[in-house]
Amino acid sequence: MSISLIGKSIGESVTLKLNETAAILRDKGDPVIHLGGGEPKSKAPLDALVAASGLLNSGELRYAPADGIPALKQAIIRYTEDYYGRVVEPENVMASGGAKQAIMVALQAILNPQEEVIFPAPYWVSYPEMARLCGAVPVPVYAEDGSFCPRIQDIEQKVGSYSKAVIINSPNNPSGVMYPEQFIADIVEFCEKRDLYLIMDDIYHRLVFDGKKAANCWEYAKNKTETSKLIIVNGVSKQYAMTGFRIGWSVANKKLTEVMTNIQGHQTSGPSVLLQRAAVGALNGLQTGVDALRTTLQNNRNVLVDRLNSFEGVRVVKPDGTFYCFADFSTYDKDSTRLAKRILDKVMVVTVPGIEFGMEGYLRISFCGTIKGITEGVERMKWVLDPNAPNELFIGTRKLVRDWN
Ligand SMILES: Cc1ncc(COP(=O)(O)O)c(C=O)c1O
Repeated sequence: MSISLIGKSIGESVTLKLNETAAILRDKGDPVIHLGGGEPKSKAPLDALVAASGLLNSGELRYAPADGIPALKQAIIRYTEDYYGRVVEPENVMASGGAKQAIMVALQAILNPQEEVIFPAPYWVSYPEMARLCGAVPVPVYAEDGSFCPRIQDIEQKVGSYSKAVIINSPNNPSGVMYPEQFIADIVEFCEKRDLYLIMDDIYHRLVFDGKKAANCWEYAKNKTETSKLIIVNGVSKQYAMTGFRIGWSVANKKLTEVMTNIQGHQTSGPSVLLQRAAVGALNGLQTGVDALRTTLQNNRNVLVDRLNSFEGVRVVKPDGTFYCFADFSTYDKDSTRLAKRILDKVMVVTVPGIEFGMEGYLRISFCGTIKGITEGVERMKWVLDPNAPNELFIGTRKLVRDWN
């Protein structure tokens, strides 16, 4: 069988695969605990459901403009003004099938084969594959001090004549860390100076804890005209617990948005009109669900970090936001894939190997589930890893006996 070079270069989405694995184990009746997930467990906002059911009940669901229905664009325009102070017009906005598609289409619109996309490590699993899908080259940047926050100099060192775009995701999946305000200011200035596109993946920007606020990239933009290369990406998936609705968007200059719309028009004709309606409901409706979710996640984070700190060999950086914690387990095993598999096989807890995010020796542990799931999951992990743990562990009525040291 003949497969394209690009097709061959793309790996499967490990995080989606883990969701599948967890579902299969659950269907078999295994008491699996999924600490690898990437979605809040709360329900979608009522306003979203009401808005979508109104349209659904009409039975009239048609093609919509490839860049989104006017009502959604209006809601995104208001959102952009509220959170960024960026005043835009409908021609600056494109609604997509999730933030994922918005980023993918943006990259397709700006990258030529062999050009480079730069992003800090640890990074979201899809960035490298998205770059490869464009025939481009992903360039992860590691902080010189081994932290989760590269300095601007670390990024600068990786920029060359093939560099075309930088992607910044803060607060970050998988580390949960928010880059310092000064870093955001510097990266905006740096990209403007070097004429690079800057994609701000702000999908978690409202899920920030301890009264902190995500930095507003637009505040630091000197070029606020239609030649700006700053692309802001966001969506309803995480903040409104609407992952299955698949609605995200980009805000960019008009020319780029037109090109992106042309691409998206040929790919999918744009996202489903029904789901766009739901997103309008969420964006224009009561925002209390976002606050409640943030509070729940902050509480979950505290519990998880507390439990992880009780491991002798685990190093944890307290997440500022998101629902992920990226903990260093390298004293137990430097091979994160082997470690995650061992934990899954022994005690049915799903975690994501750090190598998938570009850093070996770490595990990404999600705290988007329940406190019970988090505490029990971490207890099980401890039983596998801690040589001082009791010899036996009960999972429901099953008794596990340690057969290793
Ligand atoms: C950093 C980051 N960006 C984008 C996305 C995609 O979100 P969406 O569901 O809107 O496609 C995710 C989802 O996990 C993410 O973690």
